[in-house]
Formats: sequence, structure tokens, C-alpha cells
Amino acid sequence: MRILLHIDDIEAWRDALAERLPEAEIVTADDPAERRRDADYLAVWKPPEALLAEQSRARGIVNLGAGVDALLNNPARPAGVPIVKLRDAGMAELIGDYVRYGVLHFQRDFDRYRRQQARREWREHSLSDKRDWPVGVLGLGAIGAKVAAMVAADGYPVHGWSRSPKALEGVTCHHGKAGLNELLGRVRTLVLLLPGTRSTRHLIDAEALAALPEGASLINPGRGSLIDEAALLEALGEGEREGRLRGALLDAFAEEPLPEGSPLWPHPRVWVTPHMAGPTPLLDAVDQVVEAIRAFEAGESIETVDPDAGY
Ligand code: GLV
Repeated sequence: MRILLHIDDIEAWRDALAERLPEAEIVTADDPAERRRDADYLAVWKPPEALLAEQSRARGIVNLGAGVDALLNNPARPAGVPIVKLRDAGMAELIGDYVRYGVLHFQRDFDRYRRQQARREWREHSLSDKRDWPVGVLGLGAIGAKVAAMVAADGYPVHGWSRSPKALEGVTCHHGKAGLNELLGRVRTLVLLLPGTRSTRHLIDAEALAALPEGASLINPGRGSLIDEAALLEALGEGEREGRLRGALLDAFAEEPLPEGSPLWPHPRVWVTPHMAGPTPLLDAVDQVVEAIRAFEAGESIETVDPDAGY
């Protein structure tokens, strides 16, 4: 069995996978074309088109990340081959920590104190109780559900939203268009953990931003395509002129790396991180790769991605 592996830090991945699947021949983009082509399985993260185009015999693909948008949008993806994506694999907790940091950042006024420090201004703001700080989590998949639970365990009221109805302990769940508006109207921090699909593109547009309470904040460790960046900039205001949105902690952007000329970089109320909220933890991920390949080999059923839904 031949497996094409493609991801950053490839040596560590190759070693871990070889140890767990000694019977497999693991090939990478660095192998000669005749060796790496026509693999039985692809375990890949954002593979270049040319590498995918060589794979006409693949029987299964494991996407080495949670979001499958890049793979589904790759024009060289072999059609009809089942795709398994990583489910949580340790990413949810990392993203949960990122979100908890962001929620505290705004709820405990670290953004304001940072700006005051620049002015050497010693002024304490009255504390907002966390029980009066509802947090909204859009997207209740493997990652969103865990993040919502982590934020709820910290003592914040949490509202979750998904396309279809869900029930999660300790989280007020909303769904559908009406549910989204209801959630937007009441949260002080909005967290985006939806997949990047045709139907979630620019879900956070001028109208959605206007539905948030004055002074709300935004955290996006999900996908850049969820946000209309021009509308976001408008809602944040310019320079010292504050808009209705208090600030944004952003890990994902319409274009990555974030272009040098993006007005988000120098914005005083934006925190930019380079898509680092949830790196794929190697060992948990390798376990899921092995599980998927074993299931493909045995012809057992395994949860696969729905390319039409986009997740
Ligand atoms: C990272 O963005 C992922 O989808 O795993």
C-alpha cells in the first residue's frame, strides 16, 4: 500500500506514520515522480495541484486538518474519492485556549488598558461580570462544540449556532436564519468556527455586524471567508474613531498570508495572528489517519466529507 503524505514538518509525520503503519510505503513530493504517483491513499494538507493531478488511483483521501475547503476547491482533486477529515484530534482544545484568551482580553479590558498604557494613563474601568458577558459560538461541529463547552465552563453564558438543530449541555443552542439573528442580538463576543463553504461565505457582513450589540467583539479562529473584511473594517471604525465593534482577534483571513498592505495589520483595534490557533497535533492526527486507512482497506464504513455541503 502506497500513501502520499503532504504537510509541513514532513519528516516527523513520516516517522510517526511509518511506525504505526509499517506495511505502508510512504512517499512525499520529494520522491521521484514515478515513485510518488498513483498512491493508494493520500494523507494531505493543502497539496499543490501538480501533486494531486498525478494521483489517478487513490481510493481514499485523509485531509490533515479540520477544514476541507482548500482540498475541495483544488481543481486537481480526484473526483469521487471519499475524503475523511480530522475530527478535533486535539485541535479543539488549542482553539479553545485561543478563544478563552480572546474572551478574557475583551471582558477584562486588556484592549483598553493597552491603549491607555501608550498614553501613560492610569484609569481603572468598572469590571463587567462574566455572567453578563454572553459569548456566541457559530459552528457546533467537533471543534465549535468543545470550544463552546470550554467557554461555558469558565462561567460565561454561551450561545451556540448551527445550521440544523443541536442540543449541547450548558449551551443555549440556536439554528437557522432566525436563530442566528437572535444570537447576534445578544452576544458581547462572537466566535466564528464555521466551515468555509458557499453558504457561509460572508455570513458576517454589514447586516450581521450591525445586529451585534454596540461594543461587541469578534474572534475568528475559523475561516477568513466567513467575514466581509470591508464591512468589518467599517464596523471597527478608523484610527481613534471607534465603530460599533470594539475589537477583533483574527487568526484567519480572506487571503493568507495577510497581504502586507491590508488595513487590518495596523488597525488599533485588531489583533492579527498567523493562522496559529489550532495547529494539527501530530500524534492524535496520525491515529486518525491510521484509523481511516484501515477502514478504507477493510471496506468498513467511516464518516466522510460531503463535498456538496463543504464539510
Ligand atoms: C486549519 O485551518 C484546519 O482546518 O485544520
